[in-house]
Amino acid sequence: MAKTIGILTSGGDCAGLNAVMRAVVSRARLLGWKVLGIQNGTAGLLDKPYKVRELTIQDIDGFTMRRGGTILGTTNSRDPFNYPMEDGSYKDRTDEIIAAMKELGIEALIGIGGDGSFDILSRLAKKGGINMVGVPKTIDNDLAMTDVSVGFDTALEVATEALDRLQPTAASHDRVMILEVMGRDAGHIALNAGIAGGADVILIPEIKYSIEAIAKKIAEVKESGRNFALVIVSEAVKSPDGEKREVVYHGGEKRYGGIADFLGPRIAEATGFETRATVLGHVQRGAQPTHNDRLLALALGVKAVDLINEGEFGKMVAWQNRAAVAVPIEDAIAKCRVVEPTDPLIHTARSLGISFGD
Ligand code: F6P
Repeated sequence: MAKTIGILTSGGDCAGLNAVMRAVVSRARLLGWKVLGIQNGTAGLLDKPYKVRELTIQDIDGFTMRRGGTILGTTNSRDPFNYPMEDGSYKDRTDEIIAAMKELGIEALIGIGGDGSFDILSRLAKKGGINMVGVPKTIDNDLAMTDVSVGFDTALEVATEALDRLQPTAASHDRVMILEVMGRDAGHIALNAGIAGGADVILIPEIKYSIEAIAKKIAEVKESGRNFALVIVSEAVKSPDGEKREVVYHGGEKRYGGIADFLGPRIAEATGFETRATVLGHVQRGAQPTHNDRLLALALGVKAVDLINEGEFGKMVAWQNRAAVAVPIEDAIAKCRVVEPTDPLIHTARSLGISFGD
């Protein structure tokens, strides 16, 4: 009888998750494993009947890989160690999840997640003796030990295209356009898309800026004869006096947001340019995966099953120097991989005359 791999997606969705599943199902089939999809992260094991279904080659057909999102559903707000109950209390429900996995005969678990999910899943694995392998996904690209995570390339494509679309309208109206992108505490999206999309100013949480320095750069742009400028800003950039810009959602959940609207009038006042702010938001997560994301997802998905088949657990599959490798999961989440001052793209940007507002 085929042995069972459980698979789940956890944390914020991104493009390429379904491509990972395609690879896992295809490779598992060749090696004699069956794959059980768990819906909505670990939360699928807290419902009775369990929200699980076998993923077959028909499920993972030619269409699925091209789709954004995750066919399994996901969650970034239901930590099983501190699970939000209907009466407003919080409860540790990990014993229920561990028992469900045993009952379903899951011998190994593939968690497709980011740092938050891996932290939870690896503690769960330790507690329940679960054989786990992680596949890195995050548009923020803030996981260590892998050159890139699934979903990042697609988010860059979307953010770069947004700058491409903002440029003609900026030029038509003599405006400064400010684009706010995601990325949580890491400025990778703004840095990469800002360079590729021809931004004049890139603001990232890792580099302190001032309105005066931004205004100086925009004045130089004007003096050079250009009638518009493009600014890209990471959502976690603070106001110059260090205040976080946040949005509080129903239920009290906080997320970064609002820095572009904060900067707009201040840049207008300092430069004399009309400004407009665009918040790209979840559009960065929802697109069809780029070919780079598909290849990465497929290579990492295959490697995850290979590790399971060889009995290697507690690992995250990672992309290093154009190869899928295995790294200890704790090393990948030990610290948030932010933009380092030595990042070669910082030098590239500065050499192109792009300002970081510093
Ligand atoms: O971690 C991915 C991410 O998209 C961040 O870039 C962003 O800050 C956050 O998730 C948004 O979370 P939510 O989907 O809960 O609004």
